[in-house]
Amino acid sequence: MNAPLQGHTASNPRHAANAFDTLLQVEQVSLEYRTPQRVVRATHEVSFEVDRADRFVVLGPSGCGKSTLLKAVAGFIEPVAGSIRLDGTQVREPGPDRIVVFQEFDQLPPWKTVRQNVMFPLLASRTLGRREAEERALHYLDKVGLAAFADAYPHTLSGGMKARVAIARALAMQPKILLMDEPFAALDALTRRKMQEELLRLWEEVRFTLLFVTHSIEEALIVGNRILLLSPHPGRVRAEINSHQFDLHSLGGVAFQQTAQRIHRLLFDEDGEGGSGAELGFHDIRIAY
Ligand SMILES: Nc1ncnc2c1ncn2[C@@H]1O[C@H](COP(=O)(O)OP(=O)(O)O)[C@@H](O)[C@H]1O
Ligand SMILES: [Mg+2]
Repeated sequence: MNAPLQGHTASNPRHAANAFDTLLQVEQVSLEYRTPQRVVRATHEVSFEVDRADRFVVLGPSGCGKSTLLKAVAGFIEPVAGSIRLDGTQVREPGPDRIVVFQEFDQLPPWKTVRQNVMFPLLASRTLGRREAEERALHYLDKVGLAAFADAYPHTLSGGMKARVAIARALAMQPKILLMDEPFAALDALTRRKMQEELLRLWEEVRFTLLFVTHSIEEALIVGNRILLLSPHPGRVRAEINSHQFDLHSLGGVAFQQTAQRIHRLLFDEDGEGGSGAELGFHDIRIAY
């Protein structure tokens, strides 16, 4: 790992430990799948830290281990090396403090209404009694603009609306961290953009901590305030950058395009082994490998 670039040491939490409120610490995490025939290493010694209220994006090409990493943070997969800590406690199993929203919105049971879908995890985890669960469900359905659809069944909703139900259901659990695995990938381009906007608006309102996985550079720049770039086979940290200056309004702008191109080069430039973020012209890079 190279030293942090000049002038940006202060923005690196590893160098200003108390200036940031670290929630999630992923340290040197290697993840593997073992089949009788072979061992697939999905990530290799991946480290990053997510601060409270971060919109932290893990970006990388398909197969670089993003989903595996998210599942490990969720507690479904145990690292073969390294450690994952949430609020200082080692992650060992799934828990209501980490809720995952997947790409497949058909995870909503079709026989339950929208309201019942949002209430279900609250009841199943015994987080709340029926009355409080209903109140909380309606509160978050209102936040995602679906109060009028509380009694609708999922099959009557559009893809974007199902995505909102999934988000309301996750937020209603008030997890310490919301984990999203390419949540908008199955949506058409316009709905996807709308959902990115909605997610940012919700974040402004609720200020939850988000760990968001995507293979879209554009989506990473829009959604994230920090982006971890992973290179594939196995997934390794290539760089981590600040991206808080970009949002939907930056789309198509020169700075946005240039940053997207630089990220593309960082991810795919095979000859770029020695090419640090500095050489690629990043002004805001935090660490470069
Ligand atoms: N259940 C599994 N068994 C074996 N290998 C797997 C399994 N799931 C994923 N992999 C492999 O692990 C690597 C990382 O996969 P994944 O985390 O799904 O990547 P991403 O989400 O970035 O596309 C890939 O090489 C993939 O083929
Ligand atoms: Mg994936």
